[in-house]
Amino acid sequence: MSLQDKIEKNVGLLIVATLVTVAIGGLVQIVPLFFQHSTTEPVEGLHKYSALRLAGRDVYIREGCYLCHSQMIRPFRAETERYGHYSVAGEFVYDHPFQWGSKRTGPDLARVGGRYSDKWHKVHLNNPRDVVPESVMPGYPWLARTPVLEGTGKDIQAKMRTMNIVVPFGCKTCETYSDADIQKAPKELEGKTEQDALIAYLQGLGTAIKTVR
Ligand code: HEC
Repeated sequence: MSLQDKIEKNVGLLIVATLVTVAIGGLVQIVPLFFQHSTTEPVEGLHKYSALRLAGRDVYIREGCYLCHSQMIRPFRAETERYGHYSVAGEFVYDHPFQWGSKRTGPDLARVGGRYSDKWHKVHLNNPRDVVPESVMPGYPWLARTPVLEGTGKDIQAKMRTMNIVVPFGCKTCETYSDADIQKAPKELEGKTEQDALIAYLQGLGTAIKTVR
């Protein structure tokens, strides 16, 4: 009996052989990505999150903004015309965990940085309908009343140390936080609210790649 006959007549063997074949196909596609410059190194002009933006990012995660907003512009004309340059891997090296999302009840936010003023964001976050009457986005008025040092900035130094562990994974040109950065972080958050932190985070999104719009 030939090898082919054996495999075709033995379901167990067929399953195992199929899994091995599929696994090889998967590995061939995935493994090189861990070593490619374009997928592991930051794009030019991208910097590590400041303490304030890092705390703001955690507000974004805690409030579940990703449930309605993606941060991933696909390379299709309909998307690039609306949002700007499509997203590239090197823009996300400091994102642990990434906020790509998959649901767009609201617009993609990958390049929302600089699109509106801080003032607009303040009004919008307190009550979206004050600037976009038909909006279904909920308001987050409590963010403006919560000092960030009592909220997501409470353990900012531990967060920065953790980022130092997870970010440079396989990345040679990534920036890390120095002891001095970590030392002065709580001071930088003094007097800021969670809303300030979230707006600082939003205003930096996608700005490393200049887009013509
Ligand atoms: C229930 C779904 C939903 C949730 C949750 C949600 N949004 Fe929205 N968001 C929307 C919709 C719909 C719009 C479009 C209408 C508008 O501008 O308000 C929008 C618009 C926006 C815009 C303007 C984008 C643009 O390009 O015009 C920003 C910025 C934004 N949201 C940020 C946030 C942040 C930050 C959070 C979490 C604190 C959040 N959203 C949570 C639905 C949501």
